[in-house]
Amino acid sequence: MSVVSLVSRYLPKFVKRTIKEKINFKLTKIMNTTNIVVAVRNRRLLNDEIDSHPPLVVEGHNVVEVKGHRFTYDYVFGKDSSNLEVYEEVVKNKIPNLFEGFNVTILAYGSTGSGKTYTMGTDYDDKIPIDQVGIIPQGIDDIFKMIESEKDDKEFVVKVSYVEIYNEEIYDLGIPKGKFQDQKNKLQICEREDKGAKELTIVEVRNLTQKVVHNTKQALQFLMKGSGRRHIGETAKNKFSSRSHAILNVLVQQTDKSTGSGKSAKFQLVDLAGSERSNTSQTSGIRLKEGTQINKSLFQLSSVIMALTSSKQSFINYRSSKLTHLLRDSLGGNTYTVMIACVNPSSTSAEETLSTLRYAHTARKIKNQPKVNMDTAAEQLKQLQKEVSMDLIAIIHYLI
Ligand SMILES: Nc1ncnc2c1ncn2[C@@H]1O[C@H](COP(=O)(O)OP(=O)(O)O)[C@@H](O)[C@H]1O
Ligand SMILES: [Mg+2]
Repeated sequence: MSVVSLVSRYLPKFVKRTIKEKINFKLTKIMNTTNIVVAVRNRRLLNDEIDSHPPLVVEGHNVVEVKGHRFTYDYVFGKDSSNLEVYEEVVKNKIPNLFEGFNVTILAYGSTGSGKTYTMGTDYDDKIPIDQVGIIPQGIDDIFKMIESEKDDKEFVVKVSYVEIYNEEIYDLGIPKGKFQDQKNKLQICEREDKGAKELTIVEVRNLTQKVVHNTKQALQFLMKGSGRRHIGETAKNKFSSRSHAILNVLVQQTDKSTGSGKSAKFQLVDLAGSERSNTSQTSGIRLKEGTQINKSLFQLSSVIMALTSSKQSFINYRSSKLTHLLRDSLGGNTYTVMIACVNPSSTSAEETLSTLRYAHTARKIKNQPKVNMDTAAEQLKQLQKEVSMDLIAIIHYLI
């Protein structure tokens, strides 16, 4: 084969790919400072709340008013909104970001009984039709649909892991029952440097079970089993109140079949335990102790949020709680983050509703800087491209 035909075969493919990657990296650096997207969801009144007077008014698609205070958000969903509507408007457009190599975190915040678990779909049950389930099952289903449409060009591996933070300890929800309550199964957080972007720190849970799943059904079975192991307890505000923060991680790894380059991205779904006041949720004994821990970690979360939005504070104490430590990336870092603040419209919850709305409003000011997570193969590819272009320059020099 002549040198010229060799050049014409190589040049367009590699030059195009190199230019595209370089432009993508530059654009990522320049443009990707995004605010956390904040949505508020006002659930309908439940049967035992029917005679109370809802204090909260939804105005337009992004304004709410409660007790004379008006707040603006990116989205506001009223009492008739469905899980499908919330998913399609706020989360669906983030799924392609995962395939571009960006992390995505969805966080449900709100008082006990306000609809966090319902909205996230953490309590998924395979009898519920897929269009009525919460964000997690819908997001997972869309991930596998996208994999199906891209599998001719790329190889994918999807891994799931699931933890809960209960009384400031981390438990693995992905391992079989029995083992779960074992003291030894309390897990620790570790930090490591990102191989691709050295300025980034990756926060992980050491020895956490990671399961490879091949389809929506397998992923949802994992979710169902894990959620069944979550600590719950009855409070006056919610018969099956989640007493822990639950974090499901869906890791999507992809390798381009023609170039061998790889990317990975984390879809992180956080169902927080409810913020509550002990007098309204009527807790005592163990429930009160749990409530104190829950409120403490939510307070640390709000302190981190305040620090991130303050122009004066430069040090952010992410290690002040397990929750903020694990959410480090999602709050101030390398992730597209959506917070869904759930509120209960009944008059007895007016104070909690107001505090949730204030909290969510502050969170809106946080800025994230999402970056593509390239793997080491991609680094090698870049090196290879450099070498190939040096060879091409030598060939062109020879030709002219
Ligand atoms: N948007 C909604 N529409 C109908 N029922 C809802 C809605 N949100 C929550 N619920 C119901 O309200 C109750 C409390 O919701 P849940 O998600 O468990 O609250 P949280 O997780 O915030 O403590 C559950 O019975 C749930 O089915
Ligand atoms: Mg819950």
